[in-house]
Amino acid sequence: MDVKEKIKITENEKTFLKSKEYTINLTYYIITMGCKLNENDSEKIAGMLEKMGYKEATSPEVANLVVFNTCCIRENAEEKLFGKLGELKNIKKANNMIICLGGCMSQEKHVIDKVKQSYPYVDIVFGTHNIHKLPEMILEKLMHNKKIIDVWDIDGEVIEGLPIKRKNNNSALVTIMYGCNNFCSYCIVPYTRGRERSRKPKDILNEIADLSKQGYKEIMLLGQNVNSYVGGEGYTFANLLRDIDKIEGIEIVRFMSPHPKDFTDDVIDAIAECDSVCKVIHLPLQSGSSNVLKLMNRKYTKEQYLNLVYKIRSKVKGVSFTTDIIVGFPGETESDFEDTLDVVERVGFEQIFMFIYSVRVGTVAERMPDHIPDNIKSERFNRLKALADDMTEKENFKYINTIQPVLVEGESKTNPSVLTGRTRNNKVVNFVGSKDLIGKEVNVKIISQHVWYLRGEVV
Ligand code: SAH
Ligand code: SF4
Ligand code: F3S
Repeated sequence: MDVKEKIKITENEKTFLKSKEYTINLTYYIITMGCKLNENDSEKIAGMLEKMGYKEATSPEVANLVVFNTCCIRENAEEKLFGKLGELKNIKKANNMIICLGGCMSQEKHVIDKVKQSYPYVDIVFGTHNIHKLPEMILEKLMHNKKIIDVWDIDGEVIEGLPIKRKNNNSALVTIMYGCNNFCSYCIVPYTRGRERSRKPKDILNEIADLSKQGYKEIMLLGQNVNSYVGGEGYTFANLLRDIDKIEGIEIVRFMSPHPKDFTDDVIDAIAECDSVCKVIHLPLQSGSSNVLKLMNRKYTKEQYLNLVYKIRSKVKGVSFTTDIIVGFPGETESDFEDTLDVVERVGFEQIFMFIYSVRVGTVAERMPDHIPDNIKSERFNRLKALADDMTEKENFKYINTIQPVLVEGESKTNPSVLTGRTRNNKVVNFVGSKDLIGKEVNVKIISQHVWYLRGEVV
C-alpha cells in the first residue's frame, strides 16, 4: 500500500468511528444486480457499512439503509430498478430509510436525470469509481440530512484495503482489474466502468494468501478482460496464474472473462501447467459469424475463434468450454445465425449463457442499420437454446461412471437431505451425505445427469 492509499484508509477509519454514534440499532440491505464484479463491489460496500455500525437486515422493506448496486448491460434492468424504487417510496418514511443508488446505471446521465425528476426521495447517488466514498456520503446524510449526488466521470484509482464482507463461504471473488478498453459495439461497460486499470500483483497475491488462511479453497478472478491484465514490468495474467498456483491451500482457481483476442500461448501454457487452474474455460463467442463479429468490433473471426479452441484443446488435457452468445445483433442474417449454430456444434460447449441483443443508449450498435425484429430474435434464441440444451446433455454424459472430486457447498435448496457441491469443472453435483462434509472436497461417483446438475454417490 502506498502513502496515498494509507491516507485514504485512515480517512475512512475516521468516518467509520464517527458513524457509530449515529448507527446504533440501524440496519442495511444491499440489492445487487448484474455481474460478479458488482457482487464483489457489494461485498466491499457491506464491509464498509458494517464498519460504520450498520447490521444486515433480512429484507429491504425493514432496513434503515438500502443500497441499489445496479447493472445496465441490458434494457430490462431499468424497469426492475424503477419498480423496486417505487415499492420503497411509502415504506421509506416509516423506517426513516436512506436510499442509495450506485453501480453501472448511475454512470448513465439519462438515469440520473430520471432519478432527479421522478424519484426525489433517493438520498444518495454514487458511481462505480467512488464506492470507497459511500461511507462519507452516508455520514453526511446522517449528520446533516443532505441529499448527495456524486458520480465521477474520470476513472477512479485502484483502491486497496477496503473492508469486505464476503457472501460466499466456498468461493471468494477477487477482482484483478477494473474497466474495459474494448468497446464492443453493443456494450455499455466501457462507458460505465472506464478504462482498464489493473491491481498490483502483490496486492492480489496477499489477498489470496489471506483468503487461504481464512480457509477458502476456491477463488474466482474477475475482470472484464482478465487476460489483458498488466501487472507492471512485463508481469502478465499468465504470471499471475502461476504465482497464485503456488499459494498453499488454494485448490481451485477460476477466472472470468478472458477475451479470445488476448488469449496468448503463455496463458494457455499456464492453464495447462497449474493444477489449481480450472480446466473449464469461459470463452465468450458472442457470434459465430465473421461478419457480425466485425460489426461487433470483437477483433477475431469465426476461424480464429475455432483455431484458438483447437489450440487450447491440444495443450490443455481434459479442457472444456462455456460461452456467452448474443442473438439478433443488428444486421444478423439467417446465414450469420447459422454460423453461430455451427460454432456451437463444433465446440460442444458445456454451458451457454444466451442473450437477446438489447439496444444500449450511446453505443455504436445503437446507430447501426437493420435492427432485427423481436419475433425473429426470439425465434433464433429458441433455436439456439434447443441446441444448447442438447449439447449440455451430451457433454454431461461423459461424466457418468467417473469419480469426481466435489467441493461440498451445502444442503440442496429443494431437499435438505441432499448435499450439493461442484466438481473442479464447475458442474453442480447433488448427492446424499452427512452435513459434516460441507466445506470439504470428497470423491463422488456420478450416476446420472439432469441437464442442470449431475447426481452421484460418495465413494
Ligand atoms: N467482458 C465480458 C462480458 C461482460 S458482459 C466479455 O467480453 O465477454 C456479459 C455478457 O453480456 C456479454 O458477454 C454479452 O454476451 C452480453 N451483453 C453485453 N451487452 C449486451 C447487449 N447490449 N445486449 C445483449 N447482451 C449483451
Ligand atoms: Fe463489453 Fe466487450 Fe468490454 Fe466485454 S470486452 S465488457 S463485451 S466492451
Ligand atoms: Fe452490469 Fe456493470 Fe457488470 S453493466 S454486467 S454490472 S460491469
